[in-house]
Amino acid sequence: MQTLTTPQLVLEPLSVAHADEMFELLREPALYRYLDYGPPPSLDHLRYNYAMVEAHESSGETTSFGERWLNWVARVAGELRAPPVGYVQATISVPGIAWIGYVFAQPQWGRGHAHAATLAMIEHLATHYAVQRCLATVEVENHRSSRLLARLGFHEATAEEAIGHTLTATERLFVRDLIST
Ligand SMILES: CC(C)(COP(=O)(O)OP(=O)(O)OC[C@H]1O[C@@H](n2cnc3c(N)ncnc32)[C@H](O)[C@@H]1OP(=O)(O)O)[C@@H](O)C(=O)NCCC(=O)NCCS
Repeated sequence: MQTLTTPQLVLEPLSVAHADEMFELLREPALYRYLDYGPPPSLDHLRYNYAMVEAHESSGETTSFGERWLNWVARVAGELRAPPVGYVQATISVPGIAWIGYVFAQPQWGRGHAHAATLAMIEHLATHYAVQRCLATVEVENHRSSRLLARLGFHEATAEEAIGHTLTATERLFVRDLIST
């Protein structure tokens, strides 16, 4: 996996070395308002998870159930010893299709960091992982996330595009095709 850069951010492939800093960021309950999981239960738990992700990412292989996991931790570019501001992730379970996600520290919201990081990841997925379609699910009331996806060129899935995806009553599916078919 490669480090990605934008004018405002550096995106580092997630590793176990990020666990201590990310534990601080991920402790904030507000981040989980619209997510179906909560903060990491302990630093050791996060270290264990990140070690698994790092081992998987550095192997370049798919998991036993055929998934490719890609995670990047974002820092503000040019800030000496800057703490992480968030992370972006993609899961490729079917060739050419990536599910994306993103979590940024609340004090960093409203600065365009999530937009810059997610856009850089999507462009990288297209050029290096042959991803042609990105998908994301969002809770109806998660307006920040919906606005972000709209700015990134996603649209709400049509009935046809939603076939085969099981959503809860409060979830919406967003789609962005990266190349025309
Ligand atoms: C979803 C989440 C990442 C959105 O973060 P965000 O900071 O609102 O998103 P962006 O990076 O796109 O920033 C957008 C805001 O920055 C502003 N902005 C400032 N400079 C900008 C720039 N250069 N480019 C784009 N937007 C910029 C925009 O105007 C916008 O402000 P607004 O929301 O008041 O209209 C964040 O709310 C979050 O981490 N939530 C918790 C986890 C979560 O719910 N994840 C999604 C699960 S589906």
